[in-house]
Amino acid sequence: MKSSRTMGHLLQSSRAMRLMVTSLLALVLTFVGLNAHAAQAELSKEDKACLSCHDKEGLVKTLESGEILSLGISTKAYVESMHLGTSCEDCHSNLDGKTHGKVKKPISSKRDFSLTMRETCRDCHKKKFTQYEDSVHAASIKAGSKKAPLCSDCHNPHTVRSVKIVAPITDTPCAKCHQDIFKAYAKDVHGQERIAKGISAPLCAGCHQAHAVQAASLGDGVKDACLACHKEAVTQHKDWLPNTALHFEAISCPVCHAPDAQRRVNLRLYDGTAKRQVAEKTGVPKFQKRTDAADSKDMGLDERALWSLLKEFNQDGGDGKMVLRGRLEVRSGVEAHQLSDKSKAIKDCDTCHKEGAAAFQSVTLTIAGPDGRPLRHGIQKDVLNSLTSMDSVRGFYAIGSTRIKLLDTLLVLVLLGAISVPLGHMTIKRLFKSVREKLEAERLAALATADQPAPTGHRQADDNVSK
Ligand code: HEC
Ligand code: HEC
Ligand code: HEC
Ligand code: HEC
Ligand code: HEC
Ligand code: HEC
Ligand code: HEC
Ligand code: HEC
Ligand code: HEC
Repeated sequence: MKSSRTMGHLLQSSRAMRLMVTSLLALVLTFVGLNAHAAQAELSKEDKACLSCHDKEGLVKTLESGEILSLGISTKAYVESMHLGTSCEDCHSNLDGKTHGKVKKPISSKRDFSLTMRETCRDCHKKKFTQYEDSVHAASIKAGSKKAPLCSDCHNPHTVRSVKIVAPITDTPCAKCHQDIFKAYAKDVHGQERIAKGISAPLCAGCHQAHAVQAASLGDGVKDACLACHKEAVTQHKDWLPNTALHFEAISCPVCHAPDAQRRVNLRLYDGTAKRQVAEKTGVPKFQKRTDAADSKDMGLDERALWSLLKEFNQDGGDGKMVLRGRLEVRSGVEAHQLSDKSKAIKDCDTCHKEGAAAFQSVTLTIAGPDGRPLRHGIQKDVLNSLTSMDSVRGFYAIGSTRIKLLDTLLVLVLLGAISVPLGHMTIKRLFKSVREKLEAERLAALATADQPAPTGHRQADDNVSK
């Protein structure tokens, strides 16, 4: 054991060289399809020694927590893994060769053991490690979570296969912990597409990334991922949705694409100068305290309470720069993964632009927590109707969904400028009717000029417009 450790030292200094050799070896192995038996010859004497004890199914250890840690390592799986070229000692350099296996060494729990081993991946996978350290998962661990994943929760170091192997979607490591979301995803348009056609549609990491996973509602990461695949999406929506950029900004994609989802308005604390969501500092929990104090009966914040809360946050140094920014979202993480095909997506303007629209019946206030995930407090829905708070909301206001006539008029004016229809004493309803008529007219015109027989069905006509 001792001699092999000095050996390990030597090897470490020429790790770059070894990495190259291993990658080459891995390549050769994939191409030649060497069978496990032949490849076993590649195991070093030291590795074989470890496996002579550890390749046993029944070998276990009882931890202080009472958990049973299985110590069995399958030689076959190890030899077939991407880590064949690394030796046990590369990652297990902290074992004492003299006493190992003879003297019992106390380990408090599985999680503790994983935590003591977590740094081992850094040496050889620096980039992934750095990306991971910036993730919501790593932040949760820092904040004390015992459930957020370490590298070894998503990759078994003794059995890792190449990511290029397309496994069934149930093998995604994310499914283990986010079960409800996984079940919803597996049935939605991407899950189904993936099951049917292999790798073209995104799995979890396709929208959230695998290592630099961020809180889903923070920033534009997820939206950018959608638009990176669906490059035509902006143009396609522009055909019928005025000011598409603004709608995309103010509405998360699942709001329209998960047609059965419940929706809500989320008023987010936003730094108007820095142009980003306000985040609570680690170790300085103010949001919960303040919202609880402002809403002692837990009825939801009313207008006055919201107003004075905003003032308080500005006194922290915001100097009037803290504003509220509204966003329409679906109410649960599961609903965000019930995307349907485009024929079922919400197109009716009245879903939102109508007095008493369902989407505006639930309102919350959020600040980004230390790990980026939102901290939430309910707001009474009437607050959306009040002018005082509208002023602080600045900019988020869906026409017709609330009752303030003055703002309706202002927005109608903006509207008229934006889509240039003749001025007049129009009601909002009529205005949208005219937008629809205009689109319809354009559609018919497009059809008329198209060099093809008249469409036989509605569906064909739709395809023509959004081409
Ligand atoms: C003589 C048999 C034997 C050999 C050889 C052996 N182990 Fe073990 N190993 C054990 C036993 C027994 C335990 C459980 C010890 C306990 O209960 O504390 C163990 C425990 C472990 C653990 C769990 C953590 C710990 O420290 O208890 C790891 C990791 C491990 N061995 C890795 C290795 C590696 C790597 C090698 C080769 C360098 C190796 N073992 C060689 C018998 C062996
Ligand atoms: C790429 C790094 C790496 C290599 C190579 C490696 N291990 Fe491990 N091993 C780990 C990590 C990390 C853990 C802790 C896993 C966890 O968090 O549960 C571990 C855990 C173990 C355990 C405890 C049981 C378990 O699965 O958690 C044993 C036993 C063990 N390793 C033996 C070996 C042997 C024997 C070899 C060589 C054949 C080997 N390891 C090669 C990284 C490695
Ligand atoms: C939350 C689960 C998760 C965690 C935690 C995680 N990974 Fe991954 N990793 C994945 C998935 C999923 C892939 C598949 C590739 C992809 O979709 O980007 C992957 C791919 C990889 C790859 C192959 C990448 C490539 O594109 O060639 C390496 C290497 C890797 N991970 C190392 C690590 C290391 C080191 C850590 C710890 C710092 C880690 N992973 C933590 C889920 C995870
Ligand atoms: C001693 C260096 C070394 C250490 C330490 C190490 N790896 Fe690796 N790892 C490799 C090599 C070499 C490969 C195969 C070459 C490659 O990246 O394509 C590999 C491949 C992988 C892959 C598959 C990449 C792919 O292309 O599909 C994953 C996942 C992975 N490692 C995760 C881990 C995790 C998790 C840890 C920590 C428990 C770890 N590695 C520690 C050297 C190492
Ligand atoms: C097509 C892209 C896409 C795929 C694929 C996807 N997600 Fe999401 N995910 C989203 C969107 C969009 C949201 C909501 C973001 C928002 O609030 O705007 C979300 C939200 C989440 C959330 C936060 C939920 C909450 O409670 O707020 C988690 C956790 C999550 N996803 C995990 C997963 C997992 C696990 C998978 C794989 C089973 C997955 N996602 C697949 C797009 C995706
Ligand atoms: C070992 C368990 C585990 C695994 C595996 C795991 N996660 Fe998580 N994830 C968590 C925990 C714990 C949190 C913290 C929030 C919570 O408690 O739900 C979290 C948070 C998240 C969030 C932020 C939620 C929000 O409110 O915005 C996203 C997004 C996410 N995970 C996506 C993924 C993706 C994608 C994968 C696979 C690549 C994955 N997770 C794998 C446990 C896990
Ligand atoms: C206001 C509701 C609404 C919002 C917000 C919305 N969509 Fe859509 N989307 C639709 C409707 C309705 C269709 C179907 C249009 C048609 O068939 O004429 C559609 C169609 C699509 C299509 C299929 C395009 C095609 O013709 O093949 C994709 C892809 C798409 N949307 C992605 C997105 C993404 C990504 C986002 C978020 C950035 C988003 N949508 C936001 C309502 C919306
Ligand atoms: C990795 C690439 C990728 C990402 C990321 C992605 N999609 Fe898709 N999406 C696809 C593929 C592939 C299909 C199936 C083929 C098609 O219909 O375009 C699809 C289908 C769809 C459809 C059905 C289109 C139809 O014609 O009925 C909608 C709607 C959609 N995606 C919306 C989204 C939204 C919203 C997001 C982000 C939350 C997103 N997609 C992220 C690749 C992606
Ligand atoms: C899912 C809800 C939803 C649907 C469906 C929807 N909108 Fe909107 N719309 C909004 C929200 C929210 C805003 C406010 C955005 C802001 O000011 O931040 C908005 C703003 C607008 C604006 C003001 C843009 C500006 O320049 O200030 C117009 C015009 C508009 N919508 C027209 C339409 C039309 C026409 C339709 C139907 C084709 C439609 N919307 C469908 C939610 C929706």
